[in-house]
Amino acid sequence: MDIGPHKQAESVAADSVKGSVTPDDLLIQSRNRHFGGQEIENRWWMGGNPYGTAMYNALSISFPKGEAFFIESARKFQDGAPEKLRREIRAFIQQEVVHSREHLCFNRHIEAANYDTSRMEQSVTDVMERLKDMPDIEHLAGTICLEHMTAVLAAEMIRNPAHFKDADEEQRKLWLWHASEEIEHKGVTYDTWLHATRDWTRWQRWKLKSKFMARISYGFLKNRTKGAMDFLQQDGITGPRAWFGFAYYALVAPGPIGRTIWPMLKFFLPGFHPWNVDDRYLIPRAESEYEAAIMDPPEDTVTEIGERRQHVRLKKVA
Ligand SMILES: [Fe+2]
Ligand SMILES: [Fe+2]
Repeated sequence: MDIGPHKQAESVAADSVKGSVTPDDLLIQSRNRHFGGQEIENRWWMGGNPYGTAMYNALSISFPKGEAFFIESARKFQDGAPEKLRREIRAFIQQEVVHSREHLCFNRHIEAANYDTSRMEQSVTDVMERLKDMPDIEHLAGTICLEHMTAVLAAEMIRNPAHFKDADEEQRKLWLWHASEEIEHKGVTYDTWLHATRDWTRWQRWKLKSKFMARISYGFLKNRTKGAMDFLQQDGITGPRAWFGFAYYALVAPGPIGRTIWPMLKFFLPGFHPWNVDDRYLIPRAESEYEAAIMDPPEDTVTEIGERRQHVRLKKVA
C-alpha cells in the first residue's frame, strides 16, 4: 500500500530516536564466528610480549560477565522502543552473546596455558554483585560508558596495525573480529539511553552519564591493570619492571590506552553520540586479510557530525 510522502515521513519520525545520529543504512549482523578450537600456542601470544599478552588476557577475563550485563541492560528497555531500535537491540544481543561465547573459550585456553584466573574472575563477579541493586537506568548508564570505551579501543585496534602485527594468527583474528562488531553496534545502547531518558533535561542526562563515566573508567582501568599485574606476576615479572613495562606498552608503544584518551573524553562533550564519527570503513579491514586490506578511508564514508547536521536538524543531546 502506498502511504504517501506525508505518512512516510511520519512513520520515519516515529521510528527514530530523538537526538540519534546513527546512520540510517547501518547494518548490524552477527557473523557468528568460531575461534574456540584453536588453543593458545604461545603463552605470550602477543608477539612474545608479556605486557601486551597480560593486558588483553585481563580484558578477556572481564568480557563474558561484562557482556552478559550489557545484554541485560539493553533488553530491559527493548519494550516500547521504536521498531528500528528494537531490531538493533536484537542484533546487538546476538553479537554480544557470540562474543561472550568465544571469549569464554579463549579464557579456558588462557587457563590451559597454566594461568590462574580465579582472582580476576572473582573481582569481576564482585563488581557485578555491587551493581545488582542499582536501578535499571543506572545499569544502562554504566553500559553506555563501557560500550563507548570498548568501541574507541576497537577502532584503535583495527586502525593502527602496530597493535596486532606480531600477534599469533588465531588470537589476532579473534580480537579483530570482536573489534569490528563493537564498531558496528557502538550506537545501540546509546540510542537506547536517549530513548529511555527522552523526557529528561540535557543537564540531567549529562550529569548521570558523566558521573558513571568518571567512576567506571577509573574502576575499569584499575581492575584491568590489577589483572594484568596478576598475569605478569605469574610469569615472574614483578615490581618496577612490571609497572614500567606495562605502562610503556599501554600508554606509549603501541599505546592502546594512551592513544584513545582523547576519543574516550569526547563522551563528556555536549552533543556527543558514538556515531558522530562514522568509522565503518574499519570493519572490512578486520574481515579481510588484515595487512593486505590496509587502505585509506574512502572520503565519503567519514562523515563528521557537523556535516551530517547540515542535512538533519538535530537538537543537542548530552
Ligand atoms: Fe562484545
Ligand atoms: Fe559491545
